[in-house]
Amino acid sequence: MKTSLLWVAGLVGLAALACSGEDGADGKTGPAGVEGPQGATGPTGPTGATGPTGPEGPTGPTGAAGDGGGVVMPEGGLTTGCLSPCHGFSGIVEQWRSSTHFATFMATIGTDEVATWTGSSTCGNCHAVDAIQQRVAGNVNHQGTAGPTGVANGQLNYKSTVDNVVREATYAGNVTVAAVGCTTCHDAFAQNDPHLTGAVYTPGSFPLRVPTGATDQALIERSSAVGTVDGTGAGNFRAGNACVWCHKSRKDVTNYITASNNVNRNWGPHRGPQTDVYSGKGGYHYPAKTYGQSSHQGLANGCVDCHMAPVAANQGVGDHSFYPKLSACTTSGCHSNATSFDVGGGQSTMKAGIQQLRVELNNKGWLTRSAAAPFDPLTTAELNNQNFELDYVRNASGLTAAEAGALYNYLILARGGAGGVHNPIYTKQLIFDSYQALTGNAPPSIPIRP
Ligand code: HEC
Ligand code: HEC
Ligand code: HEC
Ligand code: HEC
Repeated sequence: MKTSLLWVAGLVGLAALACSGEDGADGKTGPAGVEGPQGATGPTGPTGATGPTGPEGPTGPTGAAGDGGGVVMPEGGLTTGCLSPCHGFSGIVEQWRSSTHFATFMATIGTDEVATWTGSSTCGNCHAVDAIQQRVAGNVNHQGTAGPTGVANGQLNYKSTVDNVVREATYAGNVTVAAVGCTTCHDAFAQNDPHLTGAVYTPGSFPLRVPTGATDQALIERSSAVGTVDGTGAGNFRAGNACVWCHKSRKDVTNYITASNNVNRNWGPHRGPQTDVYSGKGGYHYPAKTYGQSSHQGLANGCVDCHMAPVAANQGVGDHSFYPKLSACTTSGCHSNATSFDVGGGQSTMKAGIQQLRVELNNKGWLTRSAAAPFDPLTTAELNNQNFELDYVRNASGLTAAEAGALYNYLILARGGAGGVHNPIYTKQLIFDSYQALTGNAPPSIPIRP
């Protein structure tokens, strides 16, 4: 204790001594000292920015097959995302339910299900719920080594390598349900089906199954020459191509009508040959005549522009009742004053012409409405009933090409339901030529060939 006090007093004395003398010059800077020990770790810095998204992972495995039944709805109702555009009061689903595509009943089959479509049945190619899916995949049955060359564009007929006869491909799928449902026309898969993803609908997420590019044409069966089975492109109808795959005659008029024709109740185009008329290509064309088009053939989406008018309440998605709307005629800028489909009386004129042709065909004894032999010709009462689509053909043999062609042309107009609206110029030309072939005269309602 004593020692240290002394040591401190001595130091103070030395300092007092130095301060009292004169200041000396600054000494030289000494050498750098050794590096000190490392300091303590500092605080954590702020989180950096998120990096870019990595590449998409591989597609997952195919899910288990659904039950094919209705969608199970959550308790407490649907969320807003389900209501538009599909499940609202007048959403796509309700519109579709009001259409005959929903009707799962076929008169000749008598039920919504068939035992099987496979084997020799052609019907499933349009009436089975997976009709288009099978055909787009090229999955159809045929006799011999080669089926339709244009199957990827909807062609159904082919020339059998077994017997050189023109035949129709048969259905190769397995379903037994007869309906034209959402997935018949649309390609719904695990990544875009909102029922599976839970995602809200985004426009363009529900593509059609059939090719709809600007240069894609669906084929009708008409071939380029007798003996060839190549079909004819109906036209560039884009989304309307979807309709062509089913709404056509199924008959190759080039090969179907020959120099001498034997006809019966099943003879002629199938129901709904609208494309054959709309395209201006599916009728029987008389030699040395040319056939024209109307302005309706210029519509960008063909059938869809008239039959699926955009519905504002459904985010602009087209009307899925599939019935034509007068608004399509009036808002197109073409028939702004139209109050019915009988624009300028044109449809009335054509229906009168169809009826005049019909009377002549019945006078020849070629039409009937009875289902059993002897298949009586149309009675006066039946002639007065102008539901043309109810008419069938009576057994007859040896009809010339011109006569059978007249009968065929009547049937594609009678079974198409539009009274010529689909293609007015072509319709009047077909009526004119067919009527003239039977009578030598012009039809009274169309005195001059357009
Ligand atoms: C190329 C497609 C296609 C093929 C193949 C086809 N149909 Fe049809 N069928 C249609 C279309 C389209 C309609 C609707 C026509 C309309 O109403 O304008 C229709 C309508 C019908 C109707 C009337 C509608 C009803 O519910 O009463 C019957 C019956 C029918 N088809 C039976 C058959 C049978 C039987 C076969 C097989 C031998 C067959 N179809 C093959 C396209 C086809
Ligand atoms: C007969 C064929 C057909 C059937 C059946 C059908 N659609 Fe469509 N659908 C179409 C066509 C044609 C379009 C117009 C496509 C275009 O303009 O590109 C369309 C458009 C749509 C769109 C908009 C397209 C998109 O990618 O955003 C939706 C959504 C849609 N349909 C849903 C349905 C639903 C739901 C059903 C069943 C209730 C159904 N469709 C049944 C033919 C069909
Ligand atoms: C997969 C084949 C198929 C496709 C594709 C298809 N339809 Fe149909 N369509 C039918 C059948 C079959 C019927 C008759 C249903 C019945 O009566 O049972 C029909 C009936 C109709 C009817 C009612 C006809 C009547 O006499 O009442 C209209 C209108 C119609 N289709 C329009 C269209 C339009 C427009 C398209 C294209 C967007 C289209 N269809 C695509 C097969 C098809
Ligand atoms: C220019 C507009 C327009 C175009 C394009 C059009 N249609 Fe139509 N279609 C109509 C009108 C209008 C009617 C009904 C006429 C009536 O009810 O008097 C009709 C009738 C029909 C019917 C019968 C409906 C019934 O109630 O019997 C079917 C089926 C049909 N069209 C299918 C088609 C198909 C398939 C296409 C394309 C190949 C097509 N339409 C192109 C306007 C059009």
